[in-house]
Amino acid sequence: MTSGPAWKESMRVDVTSVDTQHEQLLEAIGRLRQLLDEGADQETCIEHFDRINKLVREHFAHEERVMRNIGLPGFQRHKEIHDKLLEDLNAYRTRFIDHFDPEGVQAVYGYLAFWLFRHMTTDAAEIGRHIHRDQDAG
Ligand SMILES: [Fe+2]
Ligand SMILES: [Fe+2]
Repeated sequence: MTSGPAWKESMRVDVTSVDTQHEQLLEAIGRLRQLLDEGADQETCIEHFDRINKLVREHFAHEERVMRNIGLPGFQRHKEIHDKLLEDLNAYRTRFIDHFDPEGVQAVYGYLAFWLFRHMTTDAAEIGRHIHRDQDAG
């Protein structure tokens, strides 16, 4: 059985609440990959996809709150990236309902795994760097 992407120290952004949520998301995305390997049906996949969608929405709301609270300079750009992913998730959901096939699930898995990895190592990493900037300077 193929497992999903593994959590690595390099993915840590050094904000505990954000890191915990990233780890949960990574796990949920990995579970989608497992469902694919198990040949799960449309209903099961959509149910899990909805769980991912919910986790993503909760995470974005939290991260946006943190970014606003710390006055992160790149907030608006980061929020636009969040909004674009939410739009894409809606489009994928519609596609899952209209035409469900393993290739579609595989495409969503690949897209989400890559998106989250890039997010943790670039945009979200800026949050930790901003919070810890005084320590880093000293
Ligand atoms: Fe983010
Ligand atoms: Fe994040």
